[in-house]
Amino acid sequence: MIKEKDSVNIVLIGMSGAGKTLVGKYISKILNKEFIDTDDVIINITGKTIDHIFKEYGEDYFRQMEKNTIKEVSSFYNKVISTGGGVVLDKENIRMLKYNGIIFYLSASVDTLYKNLSLNIRKDDRRPLLKYSKDLMEDIIKLYNNRKNLYISSADYIVNVDGKSYESVGNEIISIFDSIYSCS
Ligand code: S3P
Repeated sequence: MIKEKDSVNIVLIGMSGAGKTLVGKYISKILNKEFIDTDDVIINITGKTIDHIFKEYGEDYFRQMEKNTIKEVSSFYNKVISTGGGVVLDKENIRMLKYNGIIFYLSASVDTLYKNLSLNIRKDDRRPLLKYSKDLMEDIIKLYNNRKNLYISSADYIVNVDGKSYESVGNEIISIFDSIYSCS
């Protein structure tokens, strides 16, 4: 389908700690597209934290909720959508998101991820896969190695975030986005 500039969604994928939320909020302000965080949608629908959902119902249940949410937001127009780090685990999620979205992978080194996550991870009720980690660096590396190729193959564009401010990453994405439409 032809994706129109004013209706297409900008979708951010990447590991926890890559900066999807900050970058997404920034882009949404500059481009005047509403910001949606799929984890927030799940939290609002259930009234529970993601940590609680994992503990009480298990990861598979969370993944199903995530898939339902992706299905819903994929039918929206003109949004900036920040996704949970595990969204790429299900190919169907990516197929749905691509229907009316352009997917940007925020690629971060494990050092950057560790730096961004290590300060608050114990208090973080959105990231149960890392919250209880005995060796945070090791677990980040494991997740990263399992998912790296999925992020790359799911992405329309890859933007490296290492050493950059969220504004600078956001501006890079906006300029890629503008260039797509200046050529068409
Ligand atoms: C997850 C990442 C989290 C959240 C959930 C699972 C993952 O989102 O969806 O804890 O599987 O990597 P963020 O990427 O926003 O941390």
